[in-house]
Amino acid sequence: MLADRRILLIIGGGIAAYKSLSLIRLLKGAGAAVTPVLTKAGAEFVTALSVGALAGEKVHSALFDLTAEAEMGHIELSRSADLIVVAPATADLMARMATGQADDLASTLLLATDTPVLLAPAMNVRMWQHAATQRNLATLRGDGIRFVGPDDGAMACGEFGPGRMAEPEAIFAAIASAFEAGPLQGRHVLVTSGPTHEPIDPVRFIANRSSGAQGTAIAAALRDLGARVTFVTGPAEVAPPQGVAVVRVETAVQMLAAVSAALPADAAVMAAAVADWRVLNASGSKMKKDGSGQAPALQFVENPDILASVSKGHTRPRLVVGFAAETDDVLANARAKRLRKGCDWIVANDVSPETGIMGGAENAVTLIRAEGEEVWPRMAKDDVARRLALCIADALKDE
Ligand code: C5P
Repeated sequence: MLADRRILLIIGGGIAAYKSLSLIRLLKGAGAAVTPVLTKAGAEFVTALSVGALAGEKVHSALFDLTAEAEMGHIELSRSADLIVVAPATADLMARMATGQADDLASTLLLATDTPVLLAPAMNVRMWQHAATQRNLATLRGDGIRFVGPDDGAMACGEFGPGRMAEPEAIFAAIASAFEAGPLQGRHVLVTSGPTHEPIDPVRFIANRSSGAQGTAIAAALRDLGARVTFVTGPAEVAPPQGVAVVRVETAVQMLAAVSAALPADAAVMAAAVADWRVLNASGSKMKKDGSGQAPALQFVENPDILASVSKGHTRPRLVVGFAAETDDVLANARAKRLRKGCDWIVANDVSPETGIMGGAENAVTLIRAEGEEVWPRMAKDDVARRLALCIADALKDE
């Protein structure tokens, strides 16, 4: 599987850098070529001599290396690889990647590349658990970066907890699986996400509190399993993931048109919080107070139900998944919704303000299918997304 693959291995500055030497041996043993890049901090922990000797190749370290620029520029260096692996990936390197900095060779390569990237983080437990690192982790995951580890355990700094770099064998296995076709390879999945905005006049609109976080995480998780994803999103707070076809819309009517244009698909996941009504008498110019104290009378008309029309349409995807965000009688409402809308599965969740789910990082859902219901424990929206993507891959695998 790894024979003739070229791995660009970036070794960051951390005590775990010594494990990268074993990783190079494993990769070379499997027939892969390894192009090593040693950061300035990495060179404090392992020498260019040992890295170069094991890889059997020149070790790159400086951004402005005139010979390298003449022979092969840094852009070329990143593009010639089949996979970029960063091991150890320090908190600092993750932060610089998340903000798109390019102030040394490693960060420049990572910004200049369109090659898949796998990170093996290694840092002190408090640094890993810090809100800033967790924020960077979420950003990088959203950008399509893969991760292996970190592991839990005793650390060189004397503390205990998550932050130890994954063992070389585990990183090697993650590298090998990056070259395997995902279970959704060749499948097209449509995902809707975010709120819709329904205009009242050119400057005002009706909206809801959906951040788009769950739909975005689902699109990223489906992409990671190899699916071709069309992501139709309303004006969400969260940026759309990389590596998916993004269609931006504002209103429910536009969302329906974009969804219809994206079909056929093998599956559709409708996570958007679509406004139920739009303003029928929306004004073409900004409404003004006329001094009479009379509020304008807005008339509403029901929006098309996108989920129901996809579920009942001619080009129905084989699997249609809807969401039921409820504040009362969550399960009873969600079960009724599955039947009324004609979708196969409903992901039900309680969005009462005290749950902190709407706009938050976590979700607690029940997956409702014809064959039964599964209550999932409260977990990160990214984890809900990965679990749902695996269920979708499983449901599509037979045909
Ligand atoms: O009816 P309700 O909004 O509670 O249903 C939620 C589910 O229906 C979600 O999957 C949502 O994306 C979808 N929906 C839709 N079009 C609408 C309203 C909801 O696709 N107009």
